[in-house]
Amino acid sequence: MDTIHKDKYLKSPPNLPDYSKAVEGFHYDKHISELVWFSPRHINAAYNAITKNALSDRKNKVALYYVDENESVNKYTFLDLELSSNKLGNFLKAIGCNRGDRVFIFLPRVPELYISFIGILKIGAIAGTMFSAFGPQAIFDRLSQSEAKFLITNSEMATRLKSIRNKLPNLKRILLIDKGLMTEIDKYSDVLNTTETDMTDDAFMLYTSGTTGKPKGIVHQHKAIIHEYLTAKWVLDIKDSDIYWCTADPGWVTGIAYEILGSWACGSSTVVFPGRFSADGWYRIIEKLKVTVWYTAPTAIRMLASQGLTKVKKYDLSSLRFLASVGEPLNPEPIRWGLKAFNLPFHDNYWQTETGGIVIANYAALPIKPGSMGKPFPGIKPHIIAESGDEVGVNKVGNLTLEPNWPSLMKKVWRRPKKYQSYFLYSKDLKKKLYITGDLAYKDRDGYYWFVGRADDVIKTAGERVGPFEVESALVAHEAVVEAGVIGKPDPMRGEIIKAFVVLKPTFKQSDKLKEELSMFVKKNLAGHAYPREIEFVDHLPKTRSGKIMRRILKAKELGLPIGDTSTLEEY
Ligand code: PRX
Repeated sequence: MDTIHKDKYLKSPPNLPDYSKAVEGFHYDKHISELVWFSPRHINAAYNAITKNALSDRKNKVALYYVDENESVNKYTFLDLELSSNKLGNFLKAIGCNRGDRVFIFLPRVPELYISFIGILKIGAIAGTMFSAFGPQAIFDRLSQSEAKFLITNSEMATRLKSIRNKLPNLKRILLIDKGLMTEIDKYSDVLNTTETDMTDDAFMLYTSGTTGKPKGIVHQHKAIIHEYLTAKWVLDIKDSDIYWCTADPGWVTGIAYEILGSWACGSSTVVFPGRFSADGWYRIIEKLKVTVWYTAPTAIRMLASQGLTKVKKYDLSSLRFLASVGEPLNPEPIRWGLKAFNLPFHDNYWQTETGGIVIANYAALPIKPGSMGKPFPGIKPHIIAESGDEVGVNKVGNLTLEPNWPSLMKKVWRRPKKYQSYFLYSKDLKKKLYITGDLAYKDRDGYYWFVGRADDVIKTAGERVGPFEVESALVAHEAVVEAGVIGKPDPMRGEIIKAFVVLKPTFKQSDKLKEELSMFVKKNLAGHAYPREIEFVDHLPKTRSGKIMRRILKAKELGLPIGDTSTLEEY
């Protein structure tokens, strides 16, 4: 597909009119005055997302258009969010929440989630979010490793804590939003002095999966807001006048950086819809609220595309002016469909939980090469590196690394310093320390980056990141299973689906019923989105001599590809 020249799609001058000029003279210091600082070192991300606006003439502007499951719209102004998050902050302080304490939120996308997140940051505590599909095992891993002191949830979701509650000695209280919490909070003052946090103080944390071991707690600091604000402005092109809809969930990093922090720091109105995916429902929201900027994911675009053009043409979606996508490769096909459906191109951008914000992107002012992630954000310096640590040339695939020089790069991995260190290498060739993304990519002659795949076994299903080890552990907890190997299998709709190869105990008979039972077992105990959609029973798994499951071989066999180097393989 040819390069998309953007002039005919631009409906207003972009916030970043000249990419090359921005790259040339870029330094964060030139932009820090666009945020509110208490002193040259002290900044609070929540203050910049909400308070700053509540104290300005945006005070009565709608900050949150909350579209509930029945598609009724509830409006919250910046002042509403300011006052309710102040009350929540005061309440938390009163019940013993101190600076640096971990307060986790386990909720679907309800207004209380956003209010809680802001309130927690305002008092200098650390907010942790958990995706609402998590089951007991996933919840336990997060609450126990972080030593969370408080959990904000609802009574329905709290039932998933029953089996783990007494194994969480640090969890002081579970606060249920539907059991009087909000009325209790109402008794507290709506005046709060936001904690003047140091720019490097911990602000929020999210657990994310790697290839091995339990999920790790990625911690971001308050100064992450600088990069999140600037990327929301320059990549997502968010303006004060926009009605902006990000379809992500704050259980994942996109919902934090671009549904709470960066986007509100730009002063736009944000749309939140917690309902199930439905093409008509989504189009109705865009039409009714006159959404102008829309940030979504490739799987969602493919699902909309599968419902056809006739459906989309029934709605007046002419308010849309800028579309962006993230989380998994955006192949040219959904871009082509987007052009027909919305008369606008989707702008792919790339980042990770660890990078805290967008690092490579397509911009309103630059041509799009469909299938490419685009160019580095000003100030971001990627290098494609061979295993040796040397930089490889143009069009050569290697490990995508970044110079660790931007404010939203993770500060640490919660209580796992070695894990944190393992994200960095020193390139003798470049004489530089580099952050390793774990992704393979190449750079073309024009400086555009192209995603090739993961360098490790991490799975991306419908844009969500799943660690194979967690799924394998969940499977072996079932009485019928001896061992399991889990891979991502390419899928035309979801990018990848989770496939498990399972060795059964001799006393259990292979059957479709047992496959279904195992899938449901993982769904219930680990997470509603991280269960194997496909299971194959095998007699044994390929392993290294030291006993590690070789998922690479399972994947190669599944795809009918050459198996490659098997020198470390035990007899198979
Ligand atoms: O493999 C890359 C893929 O998603 C991973 C990061 O996932 P997560 O930490 O859940 O962050 C989600 C927030 C964006 C990356 O290591 N990924 C992300 N964006 C893209 C992508 N793969 C291809 N193209 C992208 N635009």
